[in-house]
Amino acid sequence: MTVVDRAALEALMKQAREAARKSYSPYSGFQVGASLLLKTGEVVTGTNVENVSYGLTICAERAALVRAVSECGPGIRIVAVAVTNLNGAASPPCGACRQMLAEFAEPEAPVIFPAESGTRVMRFDEVLPLGFDMKLEKK
Ligand code: THU
Repeated sequence: MTVVDRAALEALMKQAREAARKSYSPYSGFQVGASLLLKTGEVVTGTNVENVSYGLTICAERAALVRAVSECGPGIRIVAVAVTNLNGAASPPCGACRQMLAEFAEPEAPVIFPAESGTRVMRFDEVLPLGFDMKLEKK
């Protein structure tokens, strides 16, 4: 188990904020940044990329995830996640992003994000308690 201290989480938040500055969000104006700390110590960031069709928009968390797999390979393990936005709003990761991250995130990985009540840190398995996981064998 990788222990990620508060200072490391704050640093990850800063990187997420930097990533948010690159957001392509002409439709919502909502600039989101995400950063993933991998078990190897590497940090991979992403930002939201919108599309005029709206539905094809990719969130910052999924942008970071596909970048992490593309750059570091399919064996990545995520030990911490930071999400933020430049709009001063709450932005926990959306449900689709939680489900995508679930395949690569450690259950105890801290997820730091702006909430209504200020910055919150929750374990990944608290953020997504019952994600879909295909079990082919019957009980
Ligand atoms: N967005 C993210 O980047 N991450 C989330 O978890 C939720 C929403 C983006 C998508 C869209 O570009 C904008 O925020 C407004 O929904």
